[in-house]
Amino acid sequence: MVVKAEGAGDAPRRVTIFGSTGSVGTQTVDLVARDPERFAVEALTANRNVALLAEQARQLRPKLAVVADPAAYADLKEALAGTGVEAAAGPQAVAEAAERPSDWVMAAIVGAAGLEPTLAAVRRGACVAFANKEVLVCAGALMMEEVRRHGANLLPVDSEHSAIYQVFDFDRLDSVQRLILTASGGPFRTRDRAFMAAATREQAVAHPTWDMGAKISIDSATMMNKGLEIIEAHFLFGVPEEKIDVLVHPQSVVHSLVEYVDGSVLAQLGTPDMRTPIAYALGWPARIPTPAERLDLVKAATLTFEAPDPERFPALRLARAALQSGGGAPTILSAANEVAVQAFLDRRIGFLDIERIVEGVLGTLPHRPLRDLGAVRDTDAEARRVAADRVDALAR
Ligand SMILES: NC(=O)c1ccc[n+]([C@@H]2O[C@H](COP(=O)([O-])OP(=O)(O)OC[C@H]3O[C@@H](n4cnc5c(N)ncnc54)[C@H](OP(=O)(O)O)[C@@H]3O)[C@@H](O)[C@H]2O)c1
Repeated sequence: MVVKAEGAGDAPRRVTIFGSTGSVGTQTVDLVARDPERFAVEALTANRNVALLAEQARQLRPKLAVVADPAAYADLKEALAGTGVEAAAGPQAVAEAAERPSDWVMAAIVGAAGLEPTLAAVRRGACVAFANKEVLVCAGALMMEEVRRHGANLLPVDSEHSAIYQVFDFDRLDSVQRLILTASGGPFRTRDRAFMAAATREQAVAHPTWDMGAKISIDSATMMNKGLEIIEAHFLFGVPEEKIDVLVHPQSVVHSLVEYVDGSVLAQLGTPDMRTPIAYALGWPARIPTPAERLDLVKAATLTFEAPDPERFPALRLARAALQSGGGAPTILSAANEVAVQAFLDRRIGFLDIERIVEGVLGTLPHRPLRDLGAVRDTDAEARRVAADRVDALAR
């Protein structure tokens, strides 16, 4: 479980942003760039978007810019010529960037590729703003053990977990009755299975309330995103699966709730703008201003809530089953989902094939205990192989 600790003093906060070219990354860059007195940048990383990474480096002047894809190194070096910003490439260089002495690290890589850098930041006791939920899903118990051992601080960035963090009574765990994660319901909230079976990439990424990266947008459409968030919440807050509920709330204004044993329910509200939860983590323990639109409840007028439909969105059941099963099951779930989502984005399989592949891989592979990171990597790789075979079998 995350523990609220004291923050740093008034010196500029040295920050490193992993996945700076992505949706969460660019919004973090936006906030950092607005307050050069408050923040100094140590390193920025991307996968292969050299043009944007170099533009960010010219603006924020980090010491280091890294691309995970070694093939992009020459372009990055050329783009940074004359800036004084060091260039590096490869997954190892990304992980090494996490070892640099920044106070605060934004973990905004997508998928299990974020495991090594997040772990490296945790192991030097950094304050880690945590967006990259797949890392906690694939290695939750081990990651939280490392957080405790090294006195690191995980600050949730997912809007739901940020909301819970802000109203969670860390000193009186027994007083928490349940966590209630809100979900927009995604673009197919009111659609039937026949519609989903024929859904295109464009329809599935068109999220009604949030503008996000492609992978999380598809996860929102299948509601696997909420399944991953149940697992994430379990590890972050130490609350068992059966005490974590999901509530569909299409307006995305109430970002999540905590119910206490006395019947009180505390929530955090705001307009759907990721800069608010990012800023909460970036300024923490202080609050810093953001340009996010202010919440006008008169304008919002009606906030609605409904139960999720497990028949149309089986991903929720799959994620809960994986968490209950424990061991490597969440690792398998997340790895198979990553492969299937990418195959759907590549237009190789249909939308409903995503859940079929995840369920099939979860049912095929043994759910072994994960004793160390080697076991996480092996389980992840095996699940990816089996999922890729299933994609090949289903590909049109
Ligand atoms: N977007 C949101 O509003 C939101 C909200 C809550 C949580 N999250 C979580 O935050 C994480 C990031 O989401 P996102 O929407 O920002 O994703 P995104 O827009 O796809 O950005 C992903 C970032 O990771 C980099 N990246 C991709 N593969 C990589 C690899 N193998 N090694 C190193 N870097 C890699 C990308 O670089 P390139 O640009 O070079 O490809 C990009 O900078 C996800 O775990 C997501 O679930 C996102």
